Amino acid sequence: MTDVDSIKVHRSAEALRASLRADGYVGWDERLALVPTMGFLHAGHAALIRHAASRKPRVVVSIFVNPLQFGPNEDLERYPRDLEHDLQVCAEAGATDVFYPEVADLTPSDIEIAVEPGRLANRLCGLTRPGHFRGVCTIVNKLFNIVEPSLAVFGWKDAQQQIILRKMVKDLNIPLTIEGVEIVREADGLALSSRNTYLTAEQRAEAVNLSLGLNEARELAVTEGESDAHQLCDVVCGMIEDNTSGVIDYVKCVRLDNLEELDEVEPGNTMIAAAVRFGTTRLIDNVRF
Ligand code: PAJ
Repeated sequence: MTDVDSIKVHRSAEALRASLRADGYVGWDERLALVPTMGFLHAGHAALIRHAASRKPRVVVSIFVNPLQFGPNEDLERYPRDLEHDLQVCAEAGATDVFYPEVADLTPSDIEIAVEPGRLANRLCGLTRPGHFRGVCTIVNKLFNIVEPSLAVFGWKDAQQQIILRKMVKDLNIPLTIEGVEIVREADGLALSSRNTYLTAEQRAEAVNLSLGLNEARELAVTEGESDAHQLCDVVCGMIEDNTSGVIDYVKCVRLDNLEELDEVEPGNTMIAAAVRFGTTRLIDNVRF
């Protein structure tokens, strides 16, 4: 077991910045990486932290369940939390600092200014989660301004989120680089997610069909040359409809760079992304090729 006491835990933006400055870190420091999370960390988050630690000597993991990105009927209140476990994961994966601010500190009730994500947020998850990516961009921009890292690491699990944040960094001239880490999966293929804990045993067993369907569609495209995007989406839908009680939110084949829907696969720039609801739990996954 790695010693969690070696990790510095900061409860406010001021405390974090004071610690970095005391150790000689300047703004957007070349030696500093940030991994933003909402906690309840699993092996997917750990892969992001390990990647950051392989690139930079000082790695800040932020743990903040961001109220700005949850809709009125979403799971903000019941979102799972376990700080002790999170600190253990951070320590083992090589983080040096955890930023764990108070809700009122980061999102005071009088907060008014937001980052508007534009057209990329009107696609895929944006259609059923209005305001979600605005909340994500706003909080991530705040985290960037507080931590001032030169590298920020995100997972491909939330591909649309990463694509929007890359655009934010470009459009707002934020002086850092974003690097993406591949999706970490359970042995059967289900993408790891903090929300998997909501699934009943039956839903968990069915949920594997999401990744199975996406994988089959990618195989069809890559090894058998199927280029009809709609056919590929039908494969994914069929797998879910035939084998589960899940309700499909969307299955779409899009260009990876601008999220526009494709009729024909574009090798190297294609993503099939899907969101499926199992009861009240909404799972997302994707394949890129
Ligand atoms: P959260 O869902 O905690 O995810 C934090 C980071 O972990 C994201 O970059 C996400 O893509 C990545 N991640 C989650 N599951 C993964 C998996 N199975 N494999 C690889 N990476 C995975 O995404 C958020 O929090 C929030 O929106 C946040 C960016 C922190 C802003 O509040």
